[in-house]
Amino acid sequence: MTSYLDRIGAGLVLSNPEVFGFDFIPENLVGREDMQKELAAIFGNISHPEGTARAVITGPVGSGKTALAKRFCKDVIRHFADKRNIQYVHVNCRNAATPSRIMQKIVQDLDPGHPDRGLGVGELLTSLRRMLNSSNSHLIVILDEVDHLLRRSGDDIIYKLMRIDEDRDGAGTLSAILISQEQILDLLENAVLSRVGRSNHIRIPPYDENGLFKIISQRRDIGLVTGTCTDEILQLVSQAAAPSGDARQSIELLEGAAKRAEAAGRSIIESKDVQRTVVTMPNNADSMNIDDIPVHAMLILLGLCRRLKRQESVTSGEAEKLYHVVCEEFDESPKGHTTLWKHLKRLTQEDIIVTRTAKAEVGRGRTQHISMPHMLPSDVARRLETLIPTKIRR
Ligand SMILES: Nc1ncnc2c1ncn2[C@@H]1O[C@H](COP(=O)(O)OP(=O)(O)OP(=O)(O)O)[C@@H](O)[C@H]1O
Ligand SMILES: [Mg+2]
Repeated sequence: MTSYLDRIGAGLVLSNPEVFGFDFIPENLVGREDMQKELAAIFGNISHPEGTARAVITGPVGSGKTALAKRFCKDVIRHFADKRNIQYVHVNCRNAATPSRIMQKIVQDLDPGHPDRGLGVGELLTSLRRMLNSSNSHLIVILDEVDHLLRRSGDDIIYKLMRIDEDRDGAGTLSAILISQEQILDLLENAVLSRVGRSNHIRIPPYDENGLFKIISQRRDIGLVTGTCTDEILQLVSQAAAPSGDARQSIELLEGAAKRAEAAGRSIIESKDVQRTVVTMPNNADSMNIDDIPVHAMLILLGLCRRLKRQESVTSGEAEKLYHVVCEEFDESPKGHTTLWKHLKRLTQEDIIVTRTAKAEVGRGRTQHISMPHMLPSDVARRLETLIPTKIRR
């Protein structure tokens, strides 16, 4: 009885699952061209035999810091392949928060057979320098999530790595990129920024909905079977992830929705696949906060939910008609246009719905497209159907 396994790997929706893996980095980073140029400017002399550079990248969770640094190293290595022998090592300081763990990781990555046991930090540094000089190569060290190191062990090892050539007759051995989330900027300010140079600090902003849309549309094109995921679905995913601005979350949502569609035996992603994935995400603040909204906002919302069970979005014109139908069902006289708008605005502010004005329609009245990325419309409808009668009776 293994037929229940048949759907695994069936590839109804996912054609290249590795595209959604945590360490997958696309050839092109979408919408980060300016930051890539900034980083390239900091590394302006990297093709010269003795050129080195230091950079700090900060930004919120999922804003693409790690992807930016790794993509840059890979591109630089390829671009200057016939000019200079460049290598890079990525160290995540969350897993290696002491100087010796960091040095072991660097040396082991460059030479997996290197005997590191029992060697002190100083000896490992000497080894590293010898290794790089004898192979005539330049190393870019990425110290990722460097705040873990700074908190636990201070900045001594960073200082030593940056001075690896001093007191010797070498030069140009090592460059460094330090990465951290924004919150610990103070820690960085004092400890490292002054050594790296403030002008070498790249601050990257969170993604907005549009930025997320472009990122997942790239993943769709390289990771999903053609025709399995519409732009409307991508819109819903980017709306759901927009409050966090976290690209990782948007990619995980798309993957989760794709897997749900496959598990249901479908070859097309539907909005409920997205919403079901959103509600199971660990840090989804439970936004089912609908018990306290005015009763007519509930009636409007119920009309919306019933339609949103079947389609990704509803226009404001449709919303009004749906509202009237619901009012009739509950024997309530509908409120006017202005009140409807007021309630829609409130539902938006409370993150229960998301409204978007389509570009082509700007200026032609106020047609808006309403969607519900954070919750499952069928769940909300069910809840409203029991809530509304109790509110009306009062
Ligand atoms: N501009 C982009 N184009 C394509 N993919 C991107 C882009 N930015 C981020 N990603 C993808 O989003 C995910 C998160 O990015 P990344 O890991 O670089 O974020 P981060 O800023 O390092 O987050 P954290 O602070 O949690 O370490 C990765 O899968 C990455 O490949
Ligand atoms: Mg990262």
